[in-house]
Amino acid sequence: MRMPLIAGNWKMNGSLALVEEFGRAFADVSLPVNVEVSLMVPFPFLEAAGRALGETSVTVGAQTLSDRPSGAFTGEVSAAMLRECGARLVLVGHSERRTLFAEDDAAVLARVKAALAEQLTPVLCVGETLEEREAERTEAVVLGQIEAVFGALDEAERARLVVAYEPVWAIGTGRTASPEQAQAVHAAIRDCLARYGAGLAGGMRLLYGGSMKADNAAELLAQPDIDGGLVGGASLKVDDFLAICQSAG
Ligand code: 13P
Repeated sequence: MRMPLIAGNWKMNGSLALVEEFGRAFADVSLPVNVEVSLMVPFPFLEAAGRALGETSVTVGAQTLSDRPSGAFTGEVSAAMLRECGARLVLVGHSERRTLFAEDDAAVLARVKAALAEQLTPVLCVGETLEEREAERTEAVVLGQIEAVFGALDEAERARLVVAYEPVWAIGTGRTASPEQAQAVHAAIRDCLARYGAGLAGGMRLLYGGSMKADNAAELLAQPDIDGGLVGGASLKVDDFLAICQSAG
């Protein structure tokens, strides 16, 4: 069975004080044992988050990484550095990276490979814009983003990914995809992955992201092909994020 994963993406938000608050709150609650929880914090908070959450089962992740291992790339952060600072997962291809920082499919693939080379779990983010959905291009866009990465990896590499479907029109807008809309795309992604093997498709965790909140998480997570959530805004409020984690159990 696929273990649900709830990942919080703080984006460029939060503070060391918030890291401490999360550490205290998570130390005091028992999370469902069958749910994996991860917090993707800004780079400077990685080590502090690892310490604050050290007594809990929550892992720490990063939000992006360089595609290069080291060198004269001012401002960049490598996979090995993330690993050394305690990250276990890293988001790759988030729509904000794709649109605001011009990361195309080739750039996304290079970052997935860099993460894999350092034993980080890449959480590959895919999703269509509202314009693409209205033009009935959702599957073409999403499956294109999937194939651009999975088609270029070998069998062992593919199995180490997590996929997050985040419709761009649902991110930070309060406009969540309906459970049926999300399930339809998740099923299409799983069908697409079946081309690489039934085992891969059956084992791959597919997260939903886009205005997931405490009050809509349960019905999204109840869908057969939704194996967790990638939570933005609600992951900055400890009670909301805890409630989402609990609803995945
Ligand atoms: P929101 O939950 O704020 O819509 O953000 C989703 C997201 O982009 C997570 O990566």
